[in-house]
Amino acid sequence: MSLLSLFHGHTPPPLVGELIHWDDTLSVDNPVIDGEHRAIVESLNRVYADWMAADHRLDLEEELGKLAAIVETHFANEEDLMARRHCPTLPDHARDHRDMLLEMRTIANNIHAMPQAKLEAQLLRFIRRLVMGHVLSWDMDARDYLRA
Ligand SMILES: [Fe+2]
Ligand SMILES: [Fe+2]
Repeated sequence: MSLLSLFHGHTPPPLVGELIHWDDTLSVDNPVIDGEHRAIVESLNRVYADWMAADHRLDLEEELGKLAAIVETHFANEEDLMARRHCPTLPDHARDHRDMLLEMRTIANNIHAMPQAKLEAQLLRFIRRLVMGHVLSWDMDARDYLRA
């Protein structure tokens, strides 16, 4: 089940431990961009599953490091593609990317100053924003410029 179908309320709730299940409705028809989006969704699912679990085994610093590497490469790839194709919404889209990079770096800079539970909540909130507020809206709106 995709988040898009969840928004429309026609499907049962997601399985425990998986907030978003990747499927073709999330595709922008570009294997590179889709692979990066999928990696971001998987990170969201890992943080969500750990947040739901009693024993909290996820190494949040390692998870944030992996996510940061994916996100920085991904935003650059998307902006490069959109620039080459003269996407009219690129300036606003890139501004949203920059806001998210700033938020991600703020979390990374405070990682040792925060209790584990607070860090996990912030990270979960951030990745949810990244997936639901950006990938499922901005990126889907720009899919004509992102397809391979
Ligand atoms: Fe994206
Ligand atoms: Fe984007």
